[in-house]
Amino acid sequence: MLEIVKTLLDVLGSAKRWVCWSMKNKVIVANWKMNGSQALARELTASAFQLAKTLPAHIQLILCPPAVYIYEMAQALKSSPVAVGAQNCHTQISGAFTGELSASQLGEAGAKYVIVGHSERRKYFGETNADVLNKAKIAITQQLIPIICVGESLEERQQGNAQAVVQAQLEACVPVELASQSQIILAYEPIWAIGSGQIPSVAEIASMHQKIGEWLFANTGRPMPVIYGGSVNAENAREILKAAHVHGVLVGGASLKAESFEAIARATP
Ligand code: PGA
Repeated sequence: MLEIVKTLLDVLGSAKRWVCWSMKNKVIVANWKMNGSQALARELTASAFQLAKTLPAHIQLILCPPAVYIYEMAQALKSSPVAVGAQNCHTQISGAFTGELSASQLGEAGAKYVIVGHSERRKYFGETNADVLNKAKIAITQQLIPIICVGESLEERQQGNAQAVVQAQLEACVPVELASQSQIILAYEPIWAIGSGQIPSVAEIASMHQKIGEWLFANTGRPMPVIYGGSVNAENAREILKAAHVHGVLVGGASLKAESFEAIARATP
């Protein structure tokens, strides 16, 4: 009996978090990339399940594992506010695209979010801005929330073009009409900061987020969360998450250890 009541309370808690989306929320996304194993996926899922019970309701944890683990994780997290996301989807719903996964299939497996346009997809798989736009569109039409990644290279930053490059990516990758009626998350990930241990200054992050946020509001008519990604770890998470216009973080390497992911979540203001 006690178990049933506890489960009901869990479900209500999770529903509350889903319905009450607000710009005061903070989103902590784990991007596991092509790392881990079934055993690690289970360990990190169990750890996030416990962690979420102790976090304030405005902090949303989203785990993006390799797609083969999505179903089992989504089942294990059914009664938890922790959400599961995919790292990529195809631009079409179905068809002769050997080896690919569609947004509807990912949604059916239990994903609520999907990362699109990560710089590693752009670099290693030749994804273009047009692909990213189409992936974001199909994700929205399949009721997934796209986490759309943009970010400049080191060369572009050094030449003083970071803002212009990011603005051009926004114009090319964000499906503004659809986004004006649904939820999207924008991830600012300077390419040179990913996996490098280097991050922009907090002032640079805040300024880029402000510009992105203004662009999103001007073009969709709604405020949209803008999260930061690139070498976020237990040590720097707090100052990044406290920065103005930062609504969360996208974490790669540090999300693969329960302790560091927990420390990042706990550092969230
Ligand atoms: P990192 O990766 O945290 O390991 O730098 C971030 C990302 O690629 O999303």
